[in-house]
Amino acid sequence: MRLETVAVHAAAEVDRETGAVAPPIHLSTTFEHPADAGAPSAYLYARYANPTQDRLETALAALDGGACALAFASGMAAATALLQNLAPGSHVLMADDTYFAVRKLAQTWFARWNLELTLVDMTDADQVRAALRPNTRCLWAETPSNPLLKLSSVAALAEIAHAAGAVLVVDATFATPLLLQPLALGADVVMHSTTKYLAGHSDVTGGALIFAREDELAVAVRESRKLLGAVANPFASWLVLRGLRTLAPRLDWHQRNATAVAQFLQGHAGVSAVHYPGLDSHPQRATALAEMRGPGGMLSFEVAGTRARAIEVASRLRLFINATSLGGYESLVEHRQSVEGPTSPTPETLLRLSVGLEHAEDLIADLEQALG
Ligand SMILES: Cc1ncc(COP(=O)(O)O)c(C=O)c1O
Repeated sequence: MRLETVAVHAAAEVDRETGAVAPPIHLSTTFEHPADAGAPSAYLYARYANPTQDRLETALAALDGGACALAFASGMAAATALLQNLAPGSHVLMADDTYFAVRKLAQTWFARWNLELTLVDMTDADQVRAALRPNTRCLWAETPSNPLLKLSSVAALAEIAHAAGAVLVVDATFATPLLLQPLALGADVVMHSTTKYLAGHSDVTGGALIFAREDELAVAVRESRKLLGAVANPFASWLVLRGLRTLAPRLDWHQRNATAVAQFLQGHAGVSAVHYPGLDSHPQRATALAEMRGPGGMLSFEVAGTRARAIEVASRLRLFINATSLGGYESLVEHRQSVEGPTSPTPETLLRLSVGLEHAEDLIADLEQALG
């Protein structure tokens, strides 16, 4: 089956009790068990597992081609759960353009967890190899990256990671399983902020990890989720599941609009750079063509001039809302350096666009008037 069909049909079986086609939401936090709790049924307590979250996890595992998936309360909870389960003393190599909160999490908490961190440009395999240490146990990639849309080759990183005895984790939030299949390319774990394209409507927060194998790491992360409690609640799970059903056509439209917007921006005198893997000028265009099924709906661009000029352009946009996050039906713009704070490495004239589902010509007209 093709991925578009999997997105519609995975874990979409009709409800056995009622025949309902749309899945039920099981809100119950507790499930009846024998008096001595000796022979537990499938469910015991919602924090351990619940039927709606299970449905979502089955669908996510199918979409990413994994052995199992775990849903979380947010993308950050998913990232934290994985990193917390690395053996103390491990060294982690992380992409230098990793989403700023994941980077901050590593910089703030790794010392307490007895983990070592090196940030490296993962678009360059030689730099990755040179940064390895004998205790490197995890390569944390993000492709395309947020906000510079840098691409790392998952196949190349998997080879490096495995030769070093490390796992490769890929945050594929921007790509979704429809555009990038990291496990098929050799990654061990995929991470998604399901808040974004998978849910698609800017109305639910969630995260997920999909594991190539139900191995020791997967079991440990599942156990830690039980104890630390960062589970997805049933309604959130249901909303993400609903989003998955329309992911393929939404992404197709997002991507078509983003391509049109990127081409417009590239030809505009008021723009000094456009970062979009769909453009021939993108430095890792070959990786996009080799590993991705499409460039996606996210792009960023640098306004010619000063930081103040970039903020002025953002403030003049009418259809693009100045708001954080991405992957919803609506177009958003953000001056990332302002949001990331004083230590942000993001260029000061960079604006990130989450290109929505409006008509491309209206979006281009909006950018045209804002750029003046
Ligand atoms: C690439 C990427 N990874 C992870 C996250 C964190 O996800 P969440 O906000 O759902 O915790 C984000 C959020 O913007 C993101 O863009």
